[in-house]
Amino acid sequence: MSLYIRVLPLVQSDKLLRMTAKAFKMDLKNLSFLHNKAYVNGEWVSAKSGKTFNVLNPATGELIGDVPDMDLQDVQVAIKAAHDAFPSWSSITAKERGILLRKWYDLMEKNAEEIAKIVTLEAGKPLAESKGEVAYGNSFVDWFAEEARRIHGEVLQSPIKSKEMVLIKQPIGVAALITPWNFPQAMITRKAGAALAAGCTCVIKPAEDTPFTALALCDLAAQAGIPKGVINVVTSDRPNAPTVGKELCESPLIAGLSFTGSTEVGKLLYQQCASGIKRVGLELGGNAPFIVFNSADIDKAVDGAIASKFRNCGQTCVSANRFLIQDGIFDKFVEKLKERMINLKLGNGIQSDVNQGPLINKAQVNKVEGIVKDAVDKGATVVCGGQRATEIGEQFYQPTLLTNIKTDMLCYLEEIFGPVAVCIKFSSEDEAVTISNCTKRGLAGYFYSNDVTQVWRVAKKMEVGMVGVNEGIISSAEAAFGGIKESGIGREGSHHGIEEFVYVKYICFGNLQ
Ligand code: SIN
Repeated sequence: MSLYIRVLPLVQSDKLLRMTAKAFKMDLKNLSFLHNKAYVNGEWVSAKSGKTFNVLNPATGELIGDVPDMDLQDVQVAIKAAHDAFPSWSSITAKERGILLRKWYDLMEKNAEEIAKIVTLEAGKPLAESKGEVAYGNSFVDWFAEEARRIHGEVLQSPIKSKEMVLIKQPIGVAALITPWNFPQAMITRKAGAALAAGCTCVIKPAEDTPFTALALCDLAAQAGIPKGVINVVTSDRPNAPTVGKELCESPLIAGLSFTGSTEVGKLLYQQCASGIKRVGLELGGNAPFIVFNSADIDKAVDGAIASKFRNCGQTCVSANRFLIQDGIFDKFVEKLKERMINLKLGNGIQSDVNQGPLINKAQVNKVEGIVKDAVDKGATVVCGGQRATEIGEQFYQPTLLTNIKTDMLCYLEEIFGPVAVCIKFSSEDEAVTISNCTKRGLAGYFYSNDVTQVWRVAKKMEVGMVGVNEGIISSAEAAFGGIKESGIGREGSHHGIEEFVYVKYICFGNLQ
């Protein structure tokens, strides 16, 4: 079926779509996985109300298409579908589940180019980055396809002769997966891969800004033979999102929630899950320190800073948020970072030379603008950038470098989630560690040092769930991703990722003698 039928049945929309295609130099008719319906119980469905909402391209503001604006009754149907599918999905062997996941992975690999285009279209990422995200996202399904059959129990040493004791792991039931717009593909596969491998079924609620990637993944899951009801995607716009989210936390048919997003929303969902004592996995905001010590290789540190800060235009929860640079190399580091930043190329991510896309929506641009204004008003120095890049588009912000940072500035206190690098000078290791840890957040932290004793010491002292040592990009399916403090609960990826979706059952065999 062509995109025109699937996504934009209206004549007016069809015209808009062709304009978008022209602007993107991309033949959207070939994007065969772009669906304008939600996916529930193996069917492409509309909202019961018939309502839809528009999804816009953040680079151009143009309409990509519309999707169902689902509400309480729609999400209840999806939860019921996942609940009905659970007995059969959880009772096939782990090996069989692994084989189906592997088929899903193969199809995602085969169609990686197209999925990456959809990511760029709705999330605004440069295409090379979207390809990177898809490879990263696919790797979780690859990993969990293999991990499925390594969900082992334990045989215990019974202290009583007439008893034998074992622990087995069983899937928790229906998992609600609420996913963000900044990694519309990888955050779904990281959660759904683990949930499905464990034997859970799921209801996914993708972010309002990026529903098309989620729907494309359902198309491929269906082609892979993943049975109906095992994966469901419910799309809804901002006004309906709180009701849908609440039901995903409170429905008695839901066993657990896995959420990636802001700490504020995470706290709300956590509260809502409390009434039913639901299993909760939360990947929330960060405020990552990035320390560069005097002994560091400055060029490597600048490479790492660019990779970490400007991945997805700074809209990454593990992005470096505060650069702490030791006094002996401060000026040199700032100069080199500025040189690299002024050469970043902003634009529509579909163009091959672009490496900085737009911010996701107007609210995000306003937030970044407010953070920079607050810093400047309080005395920060703008080394480069400091403005919207309106000549490129409404949602673009110049890569911005700030120094003379004070502890009451928003850029110091809050997660920036945009292309703004702030550099703070420090003199001693203790001072750097103190500044690093003086936040309620504790997701990722980075430091560059060539002093081996310092490396181990500082890595242990940083109050974060993940540390990059002489490295700015740390994410991988093999690693345990997650935070401490207000950055979250639980781990994703690695063999720990599956633990979020199983519970341990103790079985005691008595009267054996
Ligand atoms: C995120 O920003 O939410 C995830 C980033 C990653 O997986 O590397």
